[in-house]
Formats: sequence, C-alpha cells, structure tokens
Amino acid sequence: MSSKISKPAQYPFSDSFPILNEKVSGKSLVYLDNAATSQKPQCVIDALTEYYEHINANVHRGIHELSRKSTIAYEEARARLARFIGAAEAEELIWTRGTTEAINLVAGSWGLDSLKEGDEILISTMEHHSNIVPWQLVAQRTGAILRYIEIDDQGRLVLEDFPDLLNARTRIVSVSHISNSLGTVNPIRQIAEQTKSAGALLFVDGAQAVPHRRVDVQELGCDFYAFSGHKMCGPTGIGGLWARRELLESMPPYHGGGEMIRTVGRDESTWADIPHKFEAGTPNIAGAIGVAAAADFLEDLTFEAIAEHERSVISYAIERLSSIKDVQIFGPKDLVERSGVVSFVMGDAHPHDIATILDGEGVAIRAGHHCAQLVMHHFGVSATARASFYLYNSKEDVDRLAESLGLVQAIFSTS
Ligand SMILES: Cc1ncc(COP(=O)(O)O)c(C=O)c1O
Repeated sequence: MSSKISKPAQYPFSDSFPILNEKVSGKSLVYLDNAATSQKPQCVIDALTEYYEHINANVHRGIHELSRKSTIAYEEARARLARFIGAAEAEELIWTRGTTEAINLVAGSWGLDSLKEGDEILISTMEHHSNIVPWQLVAQRTGAILRYIEIDDQGRLVLEDFPDLLNARTRIVSVSHISNSLGTVNPIRQIAEQTKSAGALLFVDGAQAVPHRRVDVQELGCDFYAFSGHKMCGPTGIGGLWARRELLESMPPYHGGGEMIRTVGRDESTWADIPHKFEAGTPNIAGAIGVAAAADFLEDLTFEAIAEHERSVISYAIERLSSIKDVQIFGPKDLVERSGVVSFVMGDAHPHDIATILDGEGVAIRAGHHCAQLVMHHFGVSATARASFYLYNSKEDVDRLAESLGLVQAIFSTS
C-alpha cells in the first residue's frame, strides 16, 4: 500500500496537518503540546483510512487474500521502522504500545529474569515516570537496588559522578535521550561507552528524540532503544522496542497469549521466534502501518531541515520568553544541549492558570509535573508550564504565545 505523501509537505504545513486549521476558543489554534503528542499529517490519516477501507484483516493467521495483504503491510511497516532507527534487521524491532510498554517489557522480561539481590539499576532524576516506576517495581521484586544520576542547576546530567556510580554490581543503566520536562539532550554515545566498559547494559528512552533527530541505534552503541509513534506524527497506541537479536533471543516472553507461541501443551509451551515471541495477541496493525507513513513523511522532509527549522523557532522562543518579566525558564542555556521543550514558571501565576488563560487565546500548552516529579523536586516547584515545539510551529506561534503570556502578566499584576 502507498504510504507516500502525494505532494511534498512544506512550511507552514496547514495543508499537511488538517487539525492546524482548527479554531480553539474562536481563535486559530497554536499547538504547543508536542512533547505530549504530535499532530498527524494527512498522509498518516490516509494510510489508516486506506488500511481500514481496503486491507483490514488479522495478521499471520489467515490463508485468505486480505490476511496475506495485511500481514505483508504490517511486516513491511516493521522493516520500514527498523531502517528508520538504524536497526540491523527488522526482527530486532518489537512493536509495543509505546515507550512505556517497551520499558515495562525489558524490566518485566530481562529484569525479572536476570536481576538478583544487590544488583544495581542506574537511572537518573531527569527521567519520565515511565523510566522510573517499572525499575522500582522490578527492584522491589528482585531485591535489586535503584540508584540515580543527579541533575545540575541547568537540568543536565551530572556525568562527572557517572564513573563512580558505575560498578561491578551495575547491571543496567536506563536514561532518556532527550528529557520531556527540560528538553535536555543527553550525550548517549559517551554514556554508552562508559556503561559498556562497566559491563552493564544501556537502555535509552527515545520518546522525545526519534521525532526530532535521526537516530541510529547501532551508532549510539546502546543495548535497548524505545520510542512512541504518536510523538513522531504517527498514531497513538504504537511504538517500538529495539534490541540486538542475541539479547532479545536470550530474554523470556513478557506477555503470554496467541501469536507468541510455537506449540502449546497442557503444562508448558514453546515460543515463536523474535519478534513474535514478544507480541502476544492481535497487534495494532493499522498503527504500525500509520507509523511507517509517519517515518516516510519525516524522511521526505529530512531531519536536517526539521532540525534547522526547530532550532530557529526554539531560539526565538527562548529569546522572547526570557524578555518577559518574571518568566524563569528551566533547562540548559546552551541550545546545542537542548531540544524543543521550553519549561517555565512565571511569578506568582500557577502553571495551571497560565495554561487556562492561554487556552482562551487558542494557545495549547501543558501545565503540571510532566510525569517528572523528581525534576520538579530538584527545582523546588510543584509544576511548570511547558511549551513544546515541533516541525510545524513557526515564529508567529511564538509571538502568539508571548502575547498571551502578556495577558497572564496583566491579570496577575492587577489581582
Ligand atoms: C521521555 C519520555 N519517556 C516516556 C514517555 C512515555 O511515552 P508513552 O506515553 O508514549 O508510552 C514519554 C511521554 O511523554 C516521554 O516524554
């Protein structure tokens, strides 16, 4: 099936992303909640519609024509995403519901099987809750110890401490490629080298990286890499876990059910080969096809063009927001070390009030702890307001954000 866009997408993108033409509170929408989920281009919407209109059938089970077509499209989508992230082979990509499920899969399969009392799991205080809680659960069940790399006052990992934190008991290091609450870009290659020399495995949470930059899992030198389709212009409910073949083959299944078995007896069963060993039940077939269309879309635009555009919008956003009285921006000052997230507080205005006032102006941002309560503790706040940018945002969107923040300032300075 065709997952190619019919005409090249170009700025300002209102043609490619129908939702960007919506009105919110009677105003044209400025969508700045991309770290939570991205909007979907027409080609992704079309790929989903085409699948349901012409192909829909369950995969790997049927002898009939539609099932064959559906299986081919589903497995082609896997090969497409495997190429997209630089995997050596399609079988090394396991479809999951997203990053959260990928982390739970590794913690629940590799972790429960391999960790024992006194082993150490090393994560950081920058992590999204989905890269903390699954490790806490597995630590509680196995007696392993959870340790943390701290962050500094600019929200960067304190990597000077990393060699001391790594030791013979460290079995796995799990860190984000890019922080969802601060936008910090972590030096994964360096972390991978140090982790490897300590004899541990490295899991990288790529939820905020894959949408914005070319990721090559082999070049990064990690052992596991996870991402979510819905943050990279794809549908919700689909994402992936990558790991090398030998590692996946050595891990026990995570969920049991149909599709993941070779034989089933009364007392025990044998497993299908990877990737199916980890894909129990009917998968998200349309989601896989949709995320392959999203990968085509991003590569047609090129990550070079996306990065250049995003850099100019982000630097303009930081410049404009920094000039607003009482705005305090969190995260690295050096733009090279940060991605498309601008987390901030503003005087006495609660982030929820800021987001509500902005919503009335048609500007969608997020307020809260962003599933990163340890980051909030570090900075001594309970919440921040977060504007997160993507390829379709423009400097005009930044102007609308800044003007709406002017309104917040006016309301709070008179109240
Ligand atoms: C850094 C990071 N990790 C993990 C997740 C969880 O992703 P999902 O909800 O798609 O599983 C997110 C979502 O915001 C994230 O930003």
